[in-house]
Amino acid sequence: MTPHAASLETEKLCRLAPVIPVLVVDDAASAAPLAEALVAGGLPVLEVTLRTPAALDVIREMAQVTGGIMGAGTLLTPEDVANAKAAGARFGVSPGATDTLLAACEEHDLPLLPGAATASEAMALLERGYNVQKFFPAEANGGASALKAIGAPIPQVRFCPTGGVSLQNAGEYLSLPNTLCVGGSWVAPKDKVTAGDWAGITALAKEAAALPR
Ligand code: 3PG
Repeated sequence: MTPHAASLETEKLCRLAPVIPVLVVDDAASAAPLAEALVAGGLPVLEVTLRTPAALDVIREMAQVTGGIMGAGTLLTPEDVANAKAAGARFGVSPGATDTLLAACEEHDLPLLPGAATASEAMALLERGYNVQKFFPAEANGGASALKAIGAPIPQVRFCPTGGVSLQNAGEYLSLPNTLCVGGSWVAPKDKVTAGDWAGITALAKEAAALPR
């Protein structure tokens, strides 16, 4: 898959809802009800971070949930890419980008939302053909005002800012012309996942899905 084709696909996914939940799931038994709760709340595109031993099983379980589109986050190596794809991930997300990682995603036909934190990183990815990127870590990097400033000279790159984004500040990003959607973990807090409070998670998802953009 070319970087251009990957970006067309990630743009489509980013336009499906204002928020992509970023999920850190410890127990694969939570996977299906968690995904169902988020999809029911209007957030169909989900990122499962490869940060727990259960993550690949979680993706496998979530990939069966009707109406959901599962992606794998925290992709760092070609092995991560192969594992994510085999588990059923339909897209990938990475905190930054290396040639090795980009090549692996292109080879495995896994549309990647690659991370960039600076104008130079955004330019390097754009040069390769990725015009849809993740701005990470968004808040620590200067937040919406930094992303707005990057958009002045490089308006052709559109972003999904992630890292420190919340219901309170999501609107600042979503009002920017270079922001397609935001990513965040606030819609699936650990205490609610552990307690199996799926109705509570659906309520958080509904609130996030209603954010204007
Ligand atoms: C992460 O690094 O886990 C993601 O960027 C999500 O960040 P958040 O927990 O601040 O939403």
